[in-house]
Amino acid sequence: MEITRDKALELFEDHIDSESLIKHCLAVEGAMRGCAEKLNEDVDLWGVCGLLHDIDFQKWPNNHLEIAPQILKEAGYPKDFIEAILGHGDFTLVPRETQMAKCLYAVDQMASFIIAVALMRPTKLEGMTAKSVKKKMKDKAFARAVDRDEMQKGADELGMDIGELISMVIDALQKRELELNGMGISMM
Ligand SMILES: [Fe+2]
Repeated sequence: MEITRDKALELFEDHIDSESLIKHCLAVEGAMRGCAEKLNEDVDLWGVCGLLHDIDFQKWPNNHLEIAPQILKEAGYPKDFIEAILGHGDFTLVPRETQMAKCLYAVDQMASFIIAVALMRPTKLEGMTAKSVKKKMKDKAFARAVDRDEMQKGADELGMDIGELISMVIDALQKRELELNGMGISMM
């Protein structure tokens, strides 16, 4: 099966219509595309992986990543793609073997955290620096749901300095938000 964004979007729309989850998935898609571009990887493939990573989360929140393999397999996605998606949940114990899997793990929480920081700023993502995000990471009361150790682990597995990863995701999210704004939508 050829993996395309159009086909992925059809599957996405069959399973997700929650506004907050749509925004999160669009953000992770954008982050994956931006990172793939910077790391010279397959931009479209990585983007689709980001878009579909939480495919079973809305309908089966208590069985997240248990139902996803079946949905993705039936839709024709290959094993390594499915494994990359399973790898973004530590609890699945599926090892992150590809760069795509490692990046998905690294950007999933990071994208949410950066957006949480952006929402506190008058100019949102515009002009945001990695330094300000790092500072917020030290603020334990801020965005408590985001596990700081997991963010650090994501960067380590990718072999990147956390500041470098943050900058890469900020850039990717800025780009994505502009694209979405052009379509009359926002992920913020
Ligand atoms: Fe996610």
